[in-house]
Amino acid sequence: MNKKIVKEVQKSFISHFKTKPLVIFSPGRINLIGEHTDYNEGFVFPAAINKGIALAIQKSNSKKSSVYALNKDEIHEFSLDAIQPLENGGWRNYILGVIAEIQKTGIELENFNIVFTGDIPSGAGMSSSAAMENSVVFGLNELFDLGFSKQQMILISQKAEHNYAGVKCGIMDQYASMFGKKKSGLLLDCRTVASVTYKIDFKNYKLLLINTNVKHDLSESAYNDRRAVCEKVSRLLNINALRDATKGALEKVKNDISEDDYQKCLYIIEEDERVQLFSKAIKEENTADLGAYLYESHKGLSKQYKVSCKELDFLVNSTKENPNILGARMMGGGFGGCTINLILKSQAKKFKKEISKSYLKEFNKECSIYSIKLSKGTRKV
Ligand code: GLA
Repeated sequence: MNKKIVKEVQKSFISHFKTKPLVIFSPGRINLIGEHTDYNEGFVFPAAINKGIALAIQKSNSKKSSVYALNKDEIHEFSLDAIQPLENGGWRNYILGVIAEIQKTGIELENFNIVFTGDIPSGAGMSSSAAMENSVVFGLNELFDLGFSKQQMILISQKAEHNYAGVKCGIMDQYASMFGKKKSGLLLDCRTVASVTYKIDFKNYKLLLINTNVKHDLSESAYNDRRAVCEKVSRLLNINALRDATKGALEKVKNDISEDDYQKCLYIIEEDERVQLFSKAIKEENTADLGAYLYESHKGLSKQYKVSCKELDFLVNSTKENPNILGARMMGGGFGGCTINLILKSQAKKFKKEISKSYLKEFNKECSIYSIKLSKGTRKV
């Protein structure tokens, strides 16, 4: 956790509202493997990280509630009895969405003030939005003693994303951000929404994220389109979700669907298998295999599921000739954001220099590189 941002929101809150707030830290996440499998009720392997949202919250006697985005220096004031999604509302919609979903459960909230900031680069595929939603629902739950369990809170966050941000996301991001464990990854079954914790120790290797610093426009509609394809084929197969599909069953309907849709569904079936193999390799400390699964996952995301882009492909391809890197793949929804790389610790510095230079040369644009720690989930600080 970044203590500096925690202190910043605390200080800013006290100077604005002359009272001591509750402070929540809610982390972003990485995902080791299992991409686009969550809304297919399949398996994912995410972890919470040491970057996140720090949020200060306290009750207010005023007739309105307010949220101050410290690092953007933007304020939003609103009445709790007129919550609506805002057009181009950006960060505001995550907060309003959470409030609306809480209200839908029949709870009448009283007014409050919030100051928040964060250190997750936005659009990097590290789930700053899930961290935001979780920090708000967790803060309100504490402040007004609403009695929600963590499990209920992540569903509220997810619905906020569906209904106010318009992305029909799965449960991975909200789950990882809420339930993350120190130095661990979570093998999450997205059907039962229960996870098994895996201690992660890559020995001489470490994770490195490389941000393309691009987010292509179509990412949200393309995400919802992918989900629609999976649901359509599930109906055809007469199953609840692609989690239940087999390659054999898919083969049988191959002539009834387009080659494109066939490949997408095949990717989901294979990625679910890879998550299982990956967790087995973690348990057996078989680091070399891990890398191979990462590369296979990227290939599927790029060629079959078609959610990569030239910048992500370039970063992944650039690692292939490098013997110090075991594997790499795009991470998150796609169309930009980060790649996740498993690299020999002693060689990370040298590689950072090389890749920064070649990325700049190729795209006339800087990439950003982050080392992260696997950390605890959403909490009061
Ligand atoms: C986004 C969504 C998640 C998940 C990933 C892809 O991060 O919010 O629910 O679907 O994309 O794995």
